[in-house]
Amino acid sequence: MKKLTIAIDGPAGAGKSSVAKLLANKVGYLYIDTGAMYRAFTWAVLEKGVDISDEGAVKALVDTVDIRLEPMADLCRVYVGDTEVTDAIRTQRVSSHVSSVAALAVVRQKLVKLQKAMAKEGGVILDGRDIGTVVLPDADLKIFLTASVASRAQRRYLEVKAKGGTESYDAIAASIAARDDMDSHRQVSPLKKADDAVVVDNSDLDLQQTADVILGLMKERG
Ligand code: CDP
Ligand code: CDP
Repeated sequence: MKKLTIAIDGPAGAGKSSVAKLLANKVGYLYIDTGAMYRAFTWAVLEKGVDISDEGAVKALVDTVDIRLEPMADLCRVYVGDTEVTDAIRTQRVSSHVSSVAALAVVRQKLVKLQKAMAKEGGVILDGRDIGTVVLPDADLKIFLTASVASRAQRRYLEVKAKGGTESYDAIAASIAARDDMDSHRQVSPLKKADDAVVVDNSDLDLQQTADVILGLMKERG
């Protein structure tokens, strides 16, 4: 198969990162988690106490921050400078601030540039919100992965519970719906299906079935 460039976009909890990792392992591609980059920058903003309404301060931080992804077999380690933030970026505190930070044009300019550079050799799967529309408008295959809010919230609820968290299903569903709303309605690069993306609704599919659907599409394009 030719080394493709694959874009997977969609709302929170659709299964983008799990499916992307599964596929990347299976075909030997590099998985690039762009959401982790926005989360890492948000972690840095919170750590430094930067006021996100202060554009100058946000720009100063985005110009100097060093965000690195280290893809491993089934995990992508994330670093801000020398500090590993792989777990720290998954906290509710980061989740509740990330959409506001990701709405800032100055932040997106820098992270999109990094993402384009990481993807340029091909053989990559990127997941996020604006991959098919902005980061990789010429991707060989674009998937818009989605599922009902109820099934996405249930998945996240099980994930949180398995890690010993106590957040309720209702709180998780509300937080997912709020993030979907902000991500879809922001001015810069909103979450939107690219015209040439294939919609995959996996409300009733498990991870393996979802991966198989995408693998079938990859074979058609490769
Ligand atoms: O994994 P989950 O769907 O919860 O979120 P994520 O992929 O880690 O992304 C976290 C947040 O980063 C999203 O809610 C968006 O606000 C932002 N994001 C973005 O704006 N553009 C991307 N390409 C990826 C993420
Ligand atoms: O990256 P994104 O926010 O789109 O979703 P994810 O973090 O990959 O998936 C959220 C959770 O849903 C994970 O625990 C997945 O294992 C689970 N999931 C599932 O059970 N069935 C699916 N078809 C897709 C995801």
